[in-house]
Amino acid sequence: MTDAPLGPRAYSFAAFCFQAGMLLLGMHTIKAIYPGTFDPLTNGHLDLIARGAQIVDELVVAILRNSEKGNPLFTVDERKEMIFEATRQFGNVSVMTFDGLLVNFCREQGAKAVLRGIRAISDYEYEFQMAMMNRKLDPNVETLFMMPAEKYTYVSSRLIKGVFQLGGDVTALVPPLVVERLKAKSTTP
Ligand code: PNS
Repeated sequence: MTDAPLGPRAYSFAAFCFQAGMLLLGMHTIKAIYPGTFDPLTNGHLDLIARGAQIVDELVVAILRNSEKGNPLFTVDERKEMIFEATRQFGNVSVMTFDGLLVNFCREQGAKAVLRGIRAISDYEYEFQMAMMNRKLDPNVETLFMMPAEKYTYVSSRLIKGVFQLGGDVTALVPPLVVERLKAKSTTP
């Protein structure tokens, strides 16, 4: 089950015209899904979104609703809001949520590609397994791997939460809104 993109800005008018034009010309446009738990969004995620948005015509950041990663710090709606705010500047990026199989969501969305980031070799095995499983489930869905900027290669949502909870400064590693929300979480009982 999926929901509609947040707000009226699924993609800008210019992007819409571009895609309509491409369709009329019979040319392919590439829509990709960038899936994850994003608890919370980091500058590494944002860096990857910026890179992905330059390569594909339409990029959907898709938050997994039923993540097996234990107790999330932020609700899905809070994560969706933060990503929406942080990606406002991109005309071809939208934010959605999904549950169930990623390949089913790709099919529903008419997306032929999944975007994933690889920060270091340690990410590779997990990402490779996931890409191969997704290919087995749907050979029409291709996984695209991109690397974030070097300065974010050690950044993960898990580390951000841990460091922040111990009083560490994460302001250079997450968007300002995420810092605000982290602070708000730590002051609410
Ligand atoms: O950022 P994350 O938490 O590493 O993202 C993991 C995610 C959401 C991409 C992955 O758990 C996923 O795609 N889950 C959906 C269920 C699915 O399709 N499983 C089969 C592929 S292994």
